Amino acid sequence: MHSANLKILHAPADLQTMADAWRRSGKQIGFVPTMGALHEGHAALMRQARAASDVVVASLFVNPTQFGKGEDFAKYPRTLDSDRERARAEGVDVLFVPDSAAMYPTGYATFVDVEGLSSVLEGASRPGHFRGVATVVIKLLNIVKPHTAYFGQKDAQQVAVVKRMVADLNIDARIVVVPTVREPDGLALSSRNVYLDAAQRSGAPVLHRALRAAAERIRHGVTDAPGLKAEMADMITSASSGVVDYLSVAHAETLMELTTVSTGVPVLISLAVRFGTTRLIDNILVDSNS
Ligand code: PAJ
Repeated sequence: MHSANLKILHAPADLQTMADAWRRSGKQIGFVPTMGALHEGHAALMRQARAASDVVVASLFVNPTQFGKGEDFAKYPRTLDSDRERARAEGVDVLFVPDSAAMYPTGYATFVDVEGLSSVLEGASRPGHFRGVATVVIKLLNIVKPHTAYFGQKDAQQVAVVKRMVADLNIDARIVVVPTVREPDGLALSSRNVYLDAAQRSGAPVLHRALRAAAERIRHGVTDAPGLKAEMADMITSASSGVVDYLSVAHAETLMELTTVSTGVPVLISLAVRFGTTRLIDNILVDSNS
């Protein structure tokens, strides 16, 4: 069912009623949660959902509970008109655009904490971030009732947290992970890239180069994780004005930091780097078997 008629819904209950009807008539529901400011990365998720579903729902909600004090909630880019056109172009059937009061009405009191996974890496730099993510994602899954929900590898820790929550809470949805979409020079697409000035933008591709170099070193048998992190830090600081927030070589599922990379362990190399006030994250998965 590829519909050119994009429907916009604001009320959670309206979408739930619609989802019940789709499910009753045997339709496969694909879901792409986003915070808007849609780019080709989001579009890749929508395309994958479109190809595998009867109905595609995307949500657009800048979720206040996942932003910390002093973060960019207020100035997060909001581009509803172009988002609507992009969703339409990608064949999305329903765009769910709730306001904060619909998602967090007065008296709201329930939060989901995925322990352990939420407190390292991004979680260490952004306390409470994954509590907000897990909470809004479970709410959205309960509203949209998808068979399959699509997430980007760009936010690798978010994927780990969401998968853990879905398993732990017996949520009846399949999580599909879509590879990171990049600019031709390797910079991962992000809604926050618009904050970069020209010099920062030209330095930022070093993040992907450093990740690839480290992955390559692992494939060639290097096992010293602290050494790999030191090399990445050197590469980044010598080629850009970026200030490293963290560099990590960790087990891809538990996110436990590794000192030695052993054969057969899936490795996630990830980083967060500040360019001025803009904080960029990126990662690469290495299967050290290969
Ligand atoms: P947002 O940053 O808008 O991202 C929405 C989805 O797009 C996420 O699954 C993210 O990983 C994916 N994405 C972003 N950039 C990408 C890229 N360059 N390549 C591939 N996928 C990319 O992530 C969130 O919103 C929120 O935390 C959300 C899950 C919606 C909960 O509020």
